[in-house]
Amino acid sequence: MTPPVDDLIVQAQEQFAQVADAAALENAKARFLGKQGALTAMLKGLAKLDPEQKKAEGARINQLKQHIEGLLTARRAELAQAELDKRLALETIDVSLPGRGRGIGGIHPVIQTWQRVEAIFRSIGFDVADGPEIENDWTNFTALNNPENHPARSMQDTFYVSQNPAWMLRTHTSSVQVRAMEKGILPIRIICPGRVYRNETISARAHCFFHQVEGLYIAENVSFADLKQTLYFFVQEMFGKEIKIRFRPSYFPFTEPSAEMDISCLICGGTGCNVCKHTGWVEILGCGMVHPNVLENCNIDPNKYSGFAFGMGIERITMLKYQIKDLRIFSENDLRFLKQFENVV
Ligand code: PHE
Repeated sequence: MTPPVDDLIVQAQEQFAQVADAAALENAKARFLGKQGALTAMLKGLAKLDPEQKKAEGARINQLKQHIEGLLTARRAELAQAELDKRLALETIDVSLPGRGRGIGGIHPVIQTWQRVEAIFRSIGFDVADGPEIENDWTNFTALNNPENHPARSMQDTFYVSQNPAWMLRTHTSSVQVRAMEKGILPIRIICPGRVYRNETISARAHCFFHQVEGLYIAENVSFADLKQTLYFFVQEMFGKEIKIRFRPSYFPFTEPSAEMDISCLICGGTGCNVCKHTGWVEILGCGMVHPNVLENCNIDPNKYSGFAFGMGIERITMLKYQIKDLRIFSENDLRFLKQFENVV
């Protein structure tokens, strides 16, 4: 189709060529094809013509319209290309520039302590056991001599996942010990590290999730002296040979007798400072002899076997080791804090 020679086409060509961007092109388009545009005016004019003229003129206007639309499409493509060229020019990369370098991450201090505790207990024959973080009522509480409505349950505020049957986020890794006892392969000598959850108000000393290492040793003739020696060995490896320990009587439903263990304050060496509240001692774990009810619940004969158990918070050990005063900083992902542990092992 030969384009009709018409002033309008020349005008459109000129005006489309002058615009510098897509928005201006749309404005220019309106002058020809818009409601108030030249072609629309011509179409309106058709009404006045007789049928013969109308046909010829109508065809001419259509051709004109198609031609102008063609010009428009071509100019649109040109502008889009120009825009792209401009962007690419800005984006050019100088491949000869030196790279920006990326920091190498470090192992989180809590995980470093976890690994250290694991290594110490492995060195004296403990295996590492693992279990689920969502537990049923039996494994987290009842089997551990902590029956429903027992006041000791309120020692650990619980996040429930469902009520009936009750499933919960484990409040301690003692649940892993129950699972090991229920397997019934004796003797048992395990530690159970892992994340635990408690419905507590977050503060400098407490969080709604933290990490624990619990330990369990069950065999014939296990005594409190074995417990003491094991823990003594652990703290000396962890904190140094000068460390002293002491046991205070305590209560846990799953152990009898129960104790809490303190170590001499790492800051003042036992002379008294504000970390140890001027007592010279700081508490690091709970422990005791496994209650006969717990053994029975797990089908172990308490007349033949005895055992000890202990449990400690990994955050707490880390805080003592590095003199960190607020445990919230462990979960804030603050690089200024984490960077200080990059090279500590
Ligand atoms: N399960 C106890 C707690 O989470 C710790 C503990 C373990 C105490 C084993 C005694 C014996 O608080």
